[in-house]
Amino acid sequence: MAKIVSMIGTTHHPWYHAKTSKPESELTEDARNLLGWSARVQESFRSTNPDVVVIVASDHFHQFFYNNMPQFLIGRMKSYQGTFYNEEREFGLPRVELGGDRRLATDLVEAGYENGFDFAFSDEMRLDHACVVPSLISQPSFEIPVVPLLTNCGAPPIPPGQRFVDLGKALRNAIESSNAVDRVAVVVSGNLSLEVGGPEQMMPYSVDPEFDALAMDWLTDRDYESLTAESTYERLMLHGNTSFQFLNMLTMASMQEDMTLIHAEAMKRRGSPAPCFIYESEVQE
Ligand SMILES: [Fe+2]
Repeated sequence: MAKIVSMIGTTHHPWYHAKTSKPESELTEDARNLLGWSARVQESFRSTNPDVVVIVASDHFHQFFYNNMPQFLIGRMKSYQGTFYNEEREFGLPRVELGGDRRLATDLVEAGYENGFDFAFSDEMRLDHACVVPSLISQPSFEIPVVPLLTNCGAPPIPPGQRFVDLGKALRNAIESSNAVDRVAVVVSGNLSLEVGGPEQMMPYSVDPEFDALAMDWLTDRDYESLTAESTYERLMLHGNTSFQFLNMLTMASMQEDMTLIHAEAMKRRGSPAPCFIYESEVQE
């Protein structure tokens, strides 16, 4: 049975690559902080040695539209092309290819039926920056195959917060019931308060520092009552027009069970602090 050995909660800041791939002498303080975060995550992967990475992330209207919008979808491909044209053009993101694990992906879909989730699945999909940037942060060499689980955080009607809590429990059960691999890392891609394209974008302050501080406490304390009460689409929009991707962090909180919290930080950045979480498990060899 597979074991979750590492779990990461991270930003998918689309300019990550453009900022961090500059010569050392041109790196900003923000770029150095992001690289420091990447080094921590890579160290966790080195010490926990996962066979596969399950990425929980949201599509940004690159892949799914209102003609057929899945709430929770699992990719089932042998490999994935990453990055869309507009992300290359606007963010300088590289085109990438990530290996997939079709067997684990199929196990997760089948186990969903036993755990209250009829997952949509896709044998033909492409990954945007919500999966590509966390992969650049956690494994820039892309040697570990991935299973993407895309969530609908941004196209209302979105699932309520409780559904994202339930997803974490269902996903943990599904991973632990699979014999496809031994060691699994989970990377959850999301944010705290965030504004994109609105008047608060890239301001030198956080959109809502009070929410950010409370949210970090709710996540580390696993305060599901507060997390779900404050995670409706309407409530999240009060903290910036893109704060709804915070919902993925609820899934992270509910997956941790007996894992050890190694690192929890809201990294200070212009416009929005970046959630940085590392959990690890002791695994008997
Ligand atoms: Fe996003």
